[in-house]
Parts: sequence; C-alpha cells; structure tokens
Amino acid sequence: LADPVAKVTLVGGTRHPSIPLPKDLFAPGHRNSSGLDLSDVATLKAAVAAVKQPVRVGSGTASPIQNAASGGEGLVQAAVARAHGAFPAWSATPVDDRAACLERLADLLEENRDRLMAICVQEAFKTIPDAIGEVREAADFCRYYAGEARARLQPVELPGPTGERNMLHIEGRGVWATIAPWNFPLAIFLGQTVAALVAGNTVVAKPAPQTPEIARFAVELAHRAGVPADALVLVTGGPDIGAALTADVRVMGVAFTGSTATAKRIARTLVENDDRPIVPLIAETGGINAMIVDSTALPEQVVADVLTSSFRSAGQRCSALRLLLVQEDVADTVIHMLQGAMDTLRLGDPADPATDVGPVIDRASYDKLMAYRAQVTDRTVKTLEAPAEGLFVPPTLVRLDRIEDLDQEWFGPILHVATWEAGKIGETIARVNAKGYGLTMGLHSRIARAAEVAEAAAAVGNLYINRSMIGAVVGSQPFGGEGLSGTGPKAGGPHYLYRFCAERAVSIDT
Ligand code: SER
Repeated sequence: LADPVAKVTLVGGTRHPSIPLPKDLFAPGHRNSSGLDLSDVATLKAAVAAVKQPVRVGSGTASPIQNAASGGEGLVQAAVARAHGAFPAWSATPVDDRAACLERLADLLEENRDRLMAICVQEAFKTIPDAIGEVREAADFCRYYAGEARARLQPVELPGPTGERNMLHIEGRGVWATIAPWNFPLAIFLGQTVAALVAGNTVVAKPAPQTPEIARFAVELAHRAGVPADALVLVTGGPDIGAALTADVRVMGVAFTGSTATAKRIARTLVENDDRPIVPLIAETGGINAMIVDSTALPEQVVADVLTSSFRSAGQRCSALRLLLVQEDVADTVIHMLQGAMDTLRLGDPADPATDVGPVIDRASYDKLMAYRAQVTDRTVKTLEAPAEGLFVPPTLVRLDRIEDLDQEWFGPILHVATWEAGKIGETIARVNAKGYGLTMGLHSRIARAAEVAEAAAAVGNLYINRSMIGAVVGSQPFGGEGLSGTGPKAGGPHYLYRFCAERAVSIDT
C-alpha cells in the first residue's frame, strides 16, 4: 500500500470508454441530503476526470497534518495527552459552536469532493459511485449530528417542587478513541469522530492501516472547519497502535467499527485495569446477513437487489448479503436468473465509471477469499473471470445444503445460496438468528403476513423488505447491529449522540 497510485494502474486503463456514466447517479431529487448535485453531469464528469489524475499520497505531497502521530506507543500517549489537555476548553465550547464546526466541515467536504473521491478510489479501490457515496455520507453525518446536537444536547430543566431548580446537563465524557475500518475510510471514520466531537469530547482518531491518507485529509478539513488541533488528533498505524490507544486509562470511551474479534479484544482491554474508570464501548462489527425470498416475490427485483447487496463494493460492506435463502419451489428459477445477471457485472479499474466490481482491499484479504473460493469449487454454481492483473476476487455463487453450513462472514463478493420449505419462514428466520449475528436481513415477499413475521422475528439491527440491503441513508435508516454484530446505538440515528455523553443532574434549593 505504499504506492496507491500504482495499485490503480495495475488493473488496467479504461475498459469501456463508450459506456455512459451510470444513469442513477444523475437522477434529480436523489433522496440523500448532502447537497451534492448529482444531476450535474458536467460536474460529475469533472470529478471522474479528477479521479484519474494521480494523487500523490504519502510522504511529501499529501497535505501535511502537523499533529499526526504515527508509529509507536509513546506517540499514542502523546496524542492522548494532547486530547486530554484540550478537553476542558472544547467541552466548555457551546454546543451551537461545536455544531457549526461540523456544518463548516460538511461544506468543506463538498468543496473538496473531487480530491476526496480520488483518494478513496486510489487508496481503497472505491468505484466511482461508491466514492461519491462516501463523500455524500460523510457530509450527511456532519450535518445530521450538528442538527441533533443543537436539538438534543442543550441543558434541560426538569420539574420539581417550588423552591427547587432541577437541571439536566448533557456533556462530553473526556477523550474518545475512534477506530475506523478501511471499507468506509471517510464516512465511518468521520461519522464516529464528529459524533464524539459534537457531543463535547475530544478525540484521538485511528484510521485503518490501509487507508491513512483519506483520514489525514479529512482531519485537515476538520481543523480548517474550526475544530482545535488538539481536540482532534490523528494517529495512524496497525493493531499495536490501536491496542496502545484503548489501553490508555485517560481514554473515556471507544467507538470502533471492524471485526467482532477486535471488538471483544477492546472490551477486554477496557476492563483489565482495575483502577480505570468504567467506560463505554460502541462497537459496530460484521454479520452473516441473509435475504429470505418466498415464492410470491418478483424474481427480476430479487435478482437486481441480490446483485447490488452481494457484489457492489466487491462485497466489502458489513451490511452486504452473504446468504440468500430461497423458497425451494422457486429456487431453480431465481438461481438461474441470478447466474445470468452475474454475467452483466463488469470487473475492472475502479476509476472507470462503468466498473461494477473493483479489486479487494489488499493482498491478505485477496488470499483469504481466493483460498476459500478454491475450497468450495465443487459447490460453486457460478463464478466470473477476473482481469489478469490486480486483486480481483470474481463474484461467486456457492450452493449450500443447509443454512447452518455458513458459519462465518466472508468479507468479499462471495454469495451463498440455500433453500427453505414453504410455510417455514418463521423457522428459517430463527435458524439465521441462531448464528448469533444481527446486522442486516432482507425479505422479498408480496405477502403482508410474511413481512409481519420478519419484523417480529428477525433479530437484526436493519431489516430491509422488498429492496436491497445496503446503503443505509443517514437520518432515514439508522444503522447498526446487535448480538455478535455490535453494541448499538445506531449511526445516523436520533439516539447515537447520547451514548457519547455523560449526564449530570444538578438540583438547587433556591
Ligand atoms: N452503512 C453501510 C451500509 O448500509 C454499511 O457499513 O451499507
């Protein structure tokens, strides 16, 4: 990952120059709220052109972040010390002023959209639609949490008898560590971080080791937007840096998105020092996400939504569909149509707007997914050709005999399919629930009762009915799971900020 530009050129140039930009990017009145004008074809074409310009990242040419610490426990401790020192002034800053910083940051994200997209494409292999989505979601988080903070974090006067004044103050807790994944290196990195900040905390933010440059630029923009340098300190590095950060007793909360195993490690770290205060962990992890399809579903819609949910973003979304469960009466039809639809997917250069599936994030991920794919060749009902060079995992469909045969998350474009017997929808949902994860679930059915059963029985944070299962919209589909998939609260939802706060009740005898 030393040279992300080289990673992109590796996958070859523009493969489909005559194919127009995807139409859905230009739909006027797109429901997302960030203010990016998706109907402005000229602007978008300019953005695409910008993405194809090499962006030199790494030493020397990326915008320097003076306060980025990297590469050792001592530097992590120094970063925490700075954030700790900045806490009193930042927490005393009126919530309206903190919210205004987030709104300025949203403006700056939009003004710098092209460069942000370019780094997302070059560093994380985001496709153009996914890179647009990153910037849009990051700006949405900033504006949404700014509005939520203004509305919800003001002091509240509570009732009491005459002569007594009861106030509830909602305040920051101290230094938060925010630890982000590479699959949403801008949106989740900033979403967690600005939530902690606007709630009155200071932050030491650690991006995934695969995506430090997008984080550097985001932090630079946050500082330009008015967040004091010591209120938001970036540390970069791998698991050792994350471990040093969460072990620091001055850290008063951790917001983490990544694997279930790492979330559990962090939880253990937070309690192992007896002298440490009891501090909250907000963890968003993975899932074995299923979609249940019955015989009343419209197969064309099912296939389109399966394709989007499983293979967009090369399957590298925690929300992605991993296990398609089709009622046995219609399974052959659905699987047959799905095989045909998979042939329409274009693998290639993520900077090409016509690309559906780009490379996976790194060699380790590629090797793991390809080894699994090799293990299941006898059960593979469809796979595609990968381009000759680059870390492409071909979209693959694997047939299972039983729902229970899938017992771990494969974080890539590998979809499993199994069947269930008519009349057993409740039992099928229970078998999915029994896996212990609880992030997303999908249902395709035209029967109102099936939707009611799913709503009542699906033990997941996000249930999607008759639509795709990815792309939760900030403020409309608060996102986050339960069980092995995370602690909640839901990002982009009305209760998120409270979990970053301390509440203090003050009672005065007047
Ligand atoms: N929030 C993303 C989605 O909904 C997943 O992380 O797809």
